[in-house]
Amino acid sequence: MLNLAVFGSGSGSNYQAVAEAIKAGRINARIACVISDVKEAYILQRARNLGHPAVYLDCAPFKTKLDGAAEQRAIELIKQHGGDFIVLAGFMRIVKPGLLNAFAGRIINIHPSLLPAFPGLEAGRQALEAGVKETGCTVHFVDGGIDSGPVICQRKVAVLPGDTVETLMNRIHVQEHLAYPEALRKIAAGSVG
Ligand code: GRF
Repeated sequence: MLNLAVFGSGSGSNYQAVAEAIKAGRINARIACVISDVKEAYILQRARNLGHPAVYLDCAPFKTKLDGAAEQRAIELIKQHGGDFIVLAGFMRIVKPGLLNAFAGRIINIHPSLLPAFPGLEAGRQALEAGVKETGCTVHFVDGGIDSGPVICQRKVAVLPGDTVETLMNRIHVQEHLAYPEALRKIAAGSVG
């Protein structure tokens, strides 16, 4: 069984999709804790609603990475809650070698594009500006790079005439909520990683 430590900075809809899939018996896992670097992030409220430990982690003085004392605190928090596998779900910070080494091969992320296309911020806008006909989402293992690392699964989304960033991202989100549980189901079943 996987003991998931979920990290997020925002709404947490992917976390919720994973939690529901676990509850429905589709993934052999449990949510050990939910950690956010944003005190008011809705992901923490969702965690409280679902009865999972919800922890705010102050990541100062850094703005874009999880490093230093906060990284050490994150590792302690995960261990304290019995976590052994990290799920990045809209966590807006770069994870550094301290965490990567402590959970080698056991950190995954979801990104709203068909990687390696459109890594980094605003993947939906990047896809629209590039004029591609198809984009999607990717669940991948995390390595030292930005949205790099071995792909676990991808789901495609057509770019439609008249799409705005918002309409496109809404359809990508629907696919993300299928892709993340699917990737975790495979990992928990031992067929990936
Ligand atoms: C998703 O689009 C995910 O691909 C990206 O951040 C967003 C998180 O959304 N990494 P949510 O917080 O799970 O609703």
